[in-house]
Amino acid sequence: MRTRITELFGIEHPIMQGGMHYVGFAELAAAVSNAGGIGVITGLTQRTPEDLAREIAKCRALTDKPFGVNITFLPSVTPPDYPGYIRAVVEGGVKVVETAGNNPQKWLPALKEAGIKVIHKCTAVRHALKAEAIGCDAVSVDGFECGGHPGEDDVPNFILLPRAAESLKIPFLASGGMADGRSLVAALALGADGINMGTRFIATQEAPVHENVKQAIVAATELDTRLVMRPLRNTERVLVNAGVERLLQKEKDLGGNIKFEDIFNEVAGVYPKIMKDGDMDAGAWSCGMVAGLIHDIPTVAELVSRTMAEAESIIRSRLGGML
Ligand SMILES: Cc1cc2nc3c(=O)[nH]c(=O)nc-3n(C[C@H](O)[C@H](O)[C@H](O)COP(=O)(O)O)c2cc1C
Repeated sequence: MRTRITELFGIEHPIMQGGMHYVGFAELAAAVSNAGGIGVITGLTQRTPEDLAREIAKCRALTDKPFGVNITFLPSVTPPDYPGYIRAVVEGGVKVVETAGNNPQKWLPALKEAGIKVIHKCTAVRHALKAEAIGCDAVSVDGFECGGHPGEDDVPNFILLPRAAESLKIPFLASGGMADGRSLVAALALGADGINMGTRFIATQEAPVHENVKQAIVAATELDTRLVMRPLRNTERVLVNAGVERLLQKEKDLGGNIKFEDIFNEVAGVYPKIMKDGDMDAGAWSCGMVAGLIHDIPTVAELVSRTMAEAESIIRSRLGGML
């Protein structure tokens, strides 16, 4: 399949694996790229720019296909060493960067000069238009369904994607709720140039996370995610568990007076406990509603190839047959 995204990234299939904290390591990124999509290493999971440089080198040893690095720009009192992470990406010869969070404008000149394609993740059309205006090559449009941070507008992809399509000139990926060939065809029909998947890629053989995490996703239904940190305007969609129930109770009890310190135990340092130790009640970790569509733990190659086969069959047989 050829779309503006396969052309832009030089890949076979229009499927991206979004950056995921404590999931997007070299093993998963390389598996997605080897399967013909584009895998992404999560920059900030690496403690230092030197660690990121090592992870990039590791990924390069596992694949000769293009892969990307996610750099999430968070508001922070003591920000990570962003210049160092950007340097690691440029010096590591990475060709695609997925930015997320705050406006990446400040970092674009360095990335562009190195010939890196930048895809910015957005949850609103106005942010996507801003990304286009500052020179991003593409955007990833994350609907309300998505695992992670859906923003505060709550617009689901059935509205958000066609709104993006009628507003943007640059290529864009549909993100949030994408699971299979049906998602891909629907995304293309709504105007996107491919799909970005997060949660679906966690439940794969190669995802370097504890087996409990994969089983929790398979067991979950579309009713099992919750929105946390809404009162702090930092909404995150997470899988419900005992820690999340505790957090939600605090939000209820404290109302508008809640502060980050109040929920520190349920959100800070949770990812390694979940992803490495499989301690599934440790607290809030991102998971999409798409969990309801995930029923197995295939290899990444199986997932990508069956997604493409299903998409092709829907287009040729199901849709073609209706005409
Ligand atoms: C466990 C997990 C961790 C994530 N961490 C990040 C992150 O660090 N940076 C980022 O930009 N997006 C992050 N995301 C969002 C994904 O890249 C992607 O946009 C999202 O998962 C798409 O929705 P889906 O889960 O419905 O496929 C994360 C998602 C999950 C599920």
